Amino acid sequence: MKKKPWSGRFSQDTSGLVERFTESVSIDGRLFVQDIEGSIAHAEMLKAAGLLSEDEARAITQGLREIARDIESGALVFDPALEDVHMNIEVELTRRIGEPGKKLHTARSRNDQVATDLRLYIRGRLGEVCTLLRRFMTTLIEKASGHVDTIIPGMTHLQHAQPVSFAHHLLAYVEMFMRDFDRAKDAARRLNVSPLGSAALAGTPHPIDRFMTAAALQFDEPGRNSIDGVSDRDFAIEAVFCASVIMMHLSRLAEEIVIWNSQPFSWVVLPDAFCTGSSIMPQKKNPDVAELVRGKTGGVYGSLVALLTMMKALPLAYNRDMQEDKAPVMQSLDTVCACLEVMDGLVQGLEVNREALERSLKAGFITATDMADYLVEKGVPFREAHRITGEIVSYLASQGKAFEDLGAEDFKKFSQAFGPDIVTVIRPESSVDRRRSFGGTARANVKAMIEDARTRVESLEV
Ligand code: ARG
Repeated sequence: MKKKPWSGRFSQDTSGLVERFTESVSIDGRLFVQDIEGSIAHAEMLKAAGLLSEDEARAITQGLREIARDIESGALVFDPALEDVHMNIEVELTRRIGEPGKKLHTARSRNDQVATDLRLYIRGRLGEVCTLLRRFMTTLIEKASGHVDTIIPGMTHLQHAQPVSFAHHLLAYVEMFMRDFDRAKDAARRLNVSPLGSAALAGTPHPIDRFMTAAALQFDEPGRNSIDGVSDRDFAIEAVFCASVIMMHLSRLAEEIVIWNSQPFSWVVLPDAFCTGSSIMPQKKNPDVAELVRGKTGGVYGSLVALLTMMKALPLAYNRDMQEDKAPVMQSLDTVCACLEVMDGLVQGLEVNREALERSLKAGFITATDMADYLVEKGVPFREAHRITGEIVSYLASQGKAFEDLGAEDFKKFSQAFGPDIVTVIRPESSVDRRRSFGGTARANVKAMIEDARTRVESLEV
């Protein structure tokens, strides 16, 4: 069995039960890239500070690079008895290069090491999230550009409310993901402070240069307080919060797709490649991708609550509880990336069913507000206009008819204020096009907003 680097003061071997219970390498093994990057920066700094000779630093750096290669190729596998990724790499380095390997941990603790690794890891993954968000926004905008003239029933309370351009509806999601992008960038900016050199919690008597390691790892600056450096996990919580909000947005879209795809709606047709079948019902083509995105959202929220709860009431500085941060962080970032990718494909392949949409637009008196607004324009007070329109709705509903079934003369029976133009006003297209207020659904507006969204997305820097 490999000796643990901390075994000096122990007279018994660790129980196998405890080894299995305390190990984290099965999860934090993924941090080997960041761990090695951080160790190389630390070794270079130790050399500059005169704490490592030129030769020792070179041996360490080369050894670490070879270890990285071997982990990647699968030639080197981690030993859970060595707890975590940090000790696995350090022990392996010393096995390979001997004495200099033992000097790498000078002026460092696993506490600042793990905080550094996790910041580097999350920074990279937030970049990935931003790239995927930008791509998905582009997909939504391109889909929207083909559907400016596709009119759907806009809903409130999941009841027909007012007609809107389908493009307008899709662009609402672009606004949400735009905020998500901004949030992720903001979290990444706040995260970019180096804990390295905080050591266990109090700093170190060695003449280290924290500015040098911060710069080498592309952090903006070293953290100002060594205790905070090793106790803070706000950045992890913020990253998972970002993931949670993205999942909430994806889940709303997923839910809409499930509804639109259900037989009573049949507004959309989903690509076969993004649906699955039933083992018993041969006719089935289920929207499982959307359902899974919706379902996985709960797990991501769970990760956020797990982290917040883990950190609450933790005394300063490092506590082993904090080892439990990696799984929720990694899982939620994995999930959000996978969901963004798969929803991108689903939306790309989504097509609308025009006949079903037309049928749907005829139901539910969707242009009732336009009728009331029309009467107001003819001088009828709004409350009166609301009542008259309500009476027409009630009459038609009892007959199983729609607005389109009435001629100009029929309308006059309800109010003398109706003119022949009412039949045009109640068409969904005119309803949409009259809504020219800034941000409204008029097709001319929507076309301009598509251009605007394209420019905004193109200017986003990942
Ligand atoms: N595996 C540990 C973690 O992820 C690394 C830090 C361990 N530090 C300690 N003092 N036990 O949190």
